[in-house]
Amino acid sequence: MKKILSNALRTSFRRAYLGSLTNSVYYPTIYTFLINDEKRKQLKSVLLSAPSPYTKREEHLLFSYQKVVSELPLDAIALLRSFKTNPNIGSALLFKNLPLDDGLPNTPFDGKRVVCKKSFVSEACLTGFSQVLGDVYGYTHEKEGEIIHNICPIKNQEESISNEGSKQQLHFHTENAYFEFRPDYLSFYCLRPDHERNAIFSVIDVSELLRGLSEAEIETLKAPLFRVPTPDLLTKAYRKVL
Ligand SMILES: [Fe+2]
Repeated sequence: MKKILSNALRTSFRRAYLGSLTNSVYYPTIYTFLINDEKRKQLKSVLLSAPSPYTKREEHLLFSYQKVVSELPLDAIALLRSFKTNPNIGSALLFKNLPLDDGLPNTPFDGKRVVCKKSFVSEACLTGFSQVLGDVYGYTHEKEGEIIHNICPIKNQEESISNEGSKQQLHFHTENAYFEFRPDYLSFYCLRPDHERNAIFSVIDVSELLRGLSEAEIETLKAPLFRVPTPDLLTKAYRKVL
């Protein structure tokens, strides 16, 4: 699994009419788009020459944005752009049948990125799609500032309630809720499923949730009554609770 953060400038366009998607149309929480086999193959062959996002970040970002925008079907790009601007489109997009690199290495035991990987097809898809939504970035205190986080379970950390664990459910949370500079979007790319294919990935549409709450309940939730603690890692990095 790979994860990436991105931020976009929010403008009044957020509520504007765009393409064929109008404010009166409600979409499911997760909108699915299936990439056909021919497009998958084409995308893969173009992205095989992507520079490394780990050692040539700027070259990689420019390459992946240009290629993804020019290779993806127009309706896929329109959907991504609408996701950014139309508040009724739902809280998640799912793209299926995206390409993977050949010879994916074994899942590492230590949760670290495999350095011998030769091509960056999955990375280029992830950064290309994400740049249609906004600017991608990382934090210096997370994964040594890398913009793509390679996430895999760590041996002997199975019970950890974090991205290092594999037996406990990681509960619903807002990404970096304790931090002022939060991402607008999170993009995930699944490289290898669990053996039994039991794993699930759940999302909540907050606007749907809010529709079920009274005004008073929403006001209470907005009041400064709640604290989200900073993870230990950050408290150490910044020498204070953020
Ligand atoms: Fe998270």
